[in-house]
Amino acid sequence: MVSIAIDGPSGAGKSTLARRLAAELGYVYVDTGAMYRSIGLYTLRAGADCGSEAAVAALLPQISLSLEYQDGAQHILLNGEDVSDAVRTPEVSMAASAVSAHPPVRAFLLETQRELARRQNVLMDGRDIGTVILPNAQVKIFLTASPEERARRRFEELKARGEAVTYEQVLEDVVQRDYNDTHREAAPLKAAPDAVTVDTTGLTFDESFEALLRVIRARVEA
Ligand code: DC
Repeated sequence: MVSIAIDGPSGAGKSTLARRLAAELGYVYVDTGAMYRSIGLYTLRAGADCGSEAAVAALLPQISLSLEYQDGAQHILLNGEDVSDAVRTPEVSMAASAVSAHPPVRAFLLETQRELARRQNVLMDGRDIGTVILPNAQVKIFLTASPEERARRRFEELKARGEAVTYEQVLEDVVQRDYNDTHREAAPLKAAPDAVTVDTTGLTFDESFEALLRVIRARVEA
């Protein structure tokens, strides 16, 4: 099986690019962020404190996650409910960032993610795919862009969906989440030593797509 790991901070364009690359290569796309987001959503709905490891760990036995694919798009089911859209709000983004810092949450998802990669060719995106989940991935990419560029893209995306946010709020969230994701003790966001770093600041979607495809094609017959 071939595994491609794409890690990087929020808003670098990972999920959009990863989805398109997986379709191009005929691989299964696995968006691991959606799994952390689902646990964040469940915690919010339960009225529990996302920052409390014990509170979140106590909820894990009640959570069952599964992935389904419709026309190549990943849908995430939380206890049977399709929450693919519900997990995309700014509130759930912050909840996901908080719960993802807890080791029991990471342990809960580790085996699920590895199992997906054992069964099929995957292109998996997240924060710790190349470093922790799939250390033997044939291709590892660290995708990044400046905080301002990432905030601008996320702002446009949220605005298009009708979310009432300002650019300043989004930038503040991006900076806060970067800090959380890179400073936590459990599997902090960092490039694997053997990852190729691709910076998409100033690149269009198509330019980023081509750059990633070149990196991948140089390493696997795809
Ligand atoms: O990629 P995303 O924005 O959907 O991720 C949501 C949060 O989940 C983000 O704050 C970091 C966390 N996350 C993680 O810790 N490990 C992953 N493999 C994927 C996401």
